[in-house]
Amino acid sequence: MSKDIKVSVSILCADFKNLADEIKKCEDSGADMLHVDVMDGHFVPVITVGKMIVEAISPITKMPIEAHLMIENPYAHLDDFLNAGADIISVHAECYGQRREGCWNFGEFPKEVDNIDVELVRKDIKKVKDSGKEIFMTVNPGTPLCFSEILTEIDGVLIMSVNPGFAKQKFMPIALTKLEELSKTFQGDIAVDGGVNADTAQSVVNAGANVLATASYFFGAKDPSEAVKYLKSLKPQGY
Ligand code: DX5
Ligand code: ZN
Repeated sequence: MSKDIKVSVSILCADFKNLADEIKKCEDSGADMLHVDVMDGHFVPVITVGKMIVEAISPITKMPIEAHLMIENPYAHLDDFLNAGADIISVHAECYGQRREGCWNFGEFPKEVDNIDVELVRKDIKKVKDSGKEIFMTVNPGTPLCFSEILTEIDGVLIMSVNPGFAKQKFMPIALTKLEELSKTFQGDIAVDGGVNADTAQSVVNAGANVLATASYFFGAKDPSEAVKYLKSLKPQGY
């Protein structure tokens, strides 16, 4: 039986001068979780927000908060995000392995790897799990599913369907191949992030995703509740 679809609203497209109202909008819409896109200007080209925003929104919502850490050295910041109230920590595989040639230096994007250092990741899995929170392993579009050894130790996988850094980008179909492969064996949550909208959502659900992250489709919708209702109504077809 297929899993129910969960919608994770990224506040990247929220109106930050009215953040509390925007959080309420997410909650009232029936969305399942909040997705906070943390960007450091090194792992990705731009800087967004950090733990202070997680700390600010955590007391005003019942929704679980996912911190999507698009930052270098995530291990150095896990405690901060856990203490700030994040319920799910999404770390990038590209922070745990030797980067491919062409993305070593500052300003070279997207970051990509072919392998990860499993023991390094295990330390972070332990830290997050010991605090009672969940950890998702995230991969950029160009990075393969190179973490089969730790699949039974993590709570979810977040498949990027755009190169991280910005909202409103076009969905990259490479994500579908990875979702299909992963969903054959992985029992945890399978999330997808980037370019999820009315044109692409059915295909990601068909391919096996059960958590849909969205920023621009939600905040750009005339009626965000309808957008959430639509996403949550999706069931895999043709499988
Ligand atoms: C991209 C972020 C995504 C982004 C999604 O770097 O990780 O979460 O906000 O935005 P949309 O839904 O507009 O593609
Ligand atoms: Zn994200």
